[in-house]
Amino acid sequence: MDALLEAALQARAKAFAPYSHFKVGAALESADGTIYTGCNVENATYGLTVCAERVALLKAISEGARKFTRLAVAADTTTLTPPCGACRQLLWEFCGNLEIHLVNLQGERETLALKDLFPRPFDASFLGA
Ligand code: THU
Repeated sequence: MDALLEAALQARAKAFAPYSHFKVGAALESADGTIYTGCNVENATYGLTVCAERVALLKAISEGARKFTRLAVAADTTTLTPPCGACRQLLWEFCGNLEIHLVNLQGERETLALKDLFPRPFDASFLGA
């Protein structure tokens, strides 16, 4: 299997999800080929939970990466798990029309474009930025 999908599956094993028991892993590839991984990190307040995709993205940004090519998301679901709405907004800001690969524990996979998951986004272009 593609190293990016493997990285997302391995990141999932590190999820801190004692409340939902829904473990997610993500792996974000930057333009130079570096892979940044993340897992969901839950909190007893529930609302402060951070998704796997955002952990991977914020790790990458804080390491100085700015251009991204692909994201993989791994979860244990038969209907493959896509990024939530909040993550789609943040991914659009930093990655634009990212290629997104969904995978489950059976190795079933699907490839999507962020523009199809997140049509008509609000972004910096509206601010004249
Ligand atoms: N979650 C993610 O990490 N990524 C997704 O794409 C969907 C949801 C997490 C958040 C929470 O810890 C758990 O899954 C249940 O919503």
